[in-house]
Amino acid sequence: MIGGAVKVGIAAIIVYKIAEFLLRPGADADVHFKKHYPGECRQVKGIDFGSEDLEVTKDGLAFITSGLWFPGAPKGFTDMITNNNAKGSIFLYDFNKPDLGARKLKLIPSKHFDPEIFHPHGISLLEDEANGEHLLYVVSHRKGKDDAVEKFRYSPKTNELIHVNSFAGDELHITNDLAVISEDKFYITNMMYFKNPYLSIIENLLALHVGSLVFFNGTGFTTAITGMRGPNGVSLSRDRKNLYVNLPFTGSMKVFDIKADYSLTEIQSLLLYTGADNLHVSQSGDALYTGAHPVLSKIMEHISDPSQKAPSSVLKLPLNNGKVDTEKITELFYDHGELISGSSVAAVHNNQLLIGSVIHKLVICDANIKL
Ligand SMILES: *[C@@H]1O[C@H](CO)[C@@H](O)[C@H](O)[C@H]1NC(C)=O
Repeated sequence: MIGGAVKVGIAAIIVYKIAEFLLRPGADADVHFKKHYPGECRQVKGIDFGSEDLEVTKDGLAFITSGLWFPGAPKGFTDMITNNNAKGSIFLYDFNKPDLGARKLKLIPSKHFDPEIFHPHGISLLEDEANGEHLLYVVSHRKGKDDAVEKFRYSPKTNELIHVNSFAGDELHITNDLAVISEDKFYITNMMYFKNPYLSIIENLLALHVGSLVFFNGTGFTTAITGMRGPNGVSLSRDRKNLYVNLPFTGSMKVFDIKADYSLTEIQSLLLYTGADNLHVSQSGDALYTGAHPVLSKIMEHISDPSQKAPSSVLKLPLNNGKVDTEKITELFYDHGELISGSSVAAVHNNQLLIGSVIHKLVICDANIKL
C-alpha cells in the first residue's frame, strides 16, 4: 500500500517538474524588447474584447472576429467574457471611413445557427468583386456543442451578415483558424486534439504534437497533416499555390505546396523565434504580415487573467517563389502591452497597419515607412 502511494507521489513530482521546466520564464526573461511603432498608432473605437483574427478586402473593408472564447479557456478568461457580457461578434472597419471606428455587424441567423453560442475565432474571406457580397467563413467554438465553421454572406447595402450554412464533423477537434481556397473548400487547423478539458491540460503540459491540419472539400473532411504542436493561423498565398501555418508554441512556421488534389507537401520550415499567431497576405501577394506573442509566458498569463498585459509584435515576412525570405524578415511594431496586449493578427492597406488582439483592443497605425 505504502509503496503504491510513494510511486504516485514520485510520479506527481516528476509531472510537476516537467511542467515547471516547460513553463519556465528563464529563456524569455533574458531577452529585452524595445517599443517601436511605424508611425502614429491609436486604438480604434468600438473594440474592447478582442479582435483575434481579421481579413481585409481589396477595397479596404476589414472583417474582424471579437469576443473569443474556447473550450478549456482559463477561468479568468471566461469570467472576463461573461462578466462583461461580451458576445461573440463580427465587426467591420472601413479603412476609407476611419471615423466610423469598428462597427458590430448584425447577424441574420438561419435555422442552423444560434447566435447565443457563437464564439468566433479564425476568419477567412472569399471576395465577390462584382457585387461586394463577400462570403465569410468563421471558426466558431459553439458553447455546449462541437466546433463548426459558419458561412455568412455580407450584404453591403444593409451591413448585415446573413448566415448561409454550418460545417461540422468528427475530424474537427478544438479548431483555431481556416483558409478558404474556393467556395466551401478550406483548410482548418486543429490547435488541440483533446476536447476534454483535463486531457487538454495534459496535452499542453506535455507539449504533445497531436495538432493537425484538415481539408474540407465541400462535402467531407480529410486530415491533411498530423503531428503538429498547436497549429494556429493558416493563410493561402494570393495565387493559392502555397499554404502557411504558424506554430507559435515552437516559435516556428511551415510552408506547404498545394497539389491538384489539395494534398500538401512541406517545402519550408522556419524558426521565427516568436509565437506568431494569425497571418494576412499583402494584396500584391509579395509578403505575409503576422501578429505575434514575443514572450510566451506573458501571453499565457494574459489569457489566464486578461488584466495582465502581454507584449505585441508585428512581423513582415517577404515572400519569394512562395517561400519566406528569412533574411528579409522585419519587425514593424512592438508594444509592451499598454496600447495593445497580445497582438494576434495584422494587415496592411494603403500603407496603414491594422493590428488585432486576442482579447484586448484593435489598433491602427499611420506609417512613416513603407510597410
Ligand atoms: C470529399 O471528401 C469526402 C470525405 O473524405 C469523400 O468521401 C468524397 O469522395 C470527397 N468528394 C470529392 C468530390 O472529392
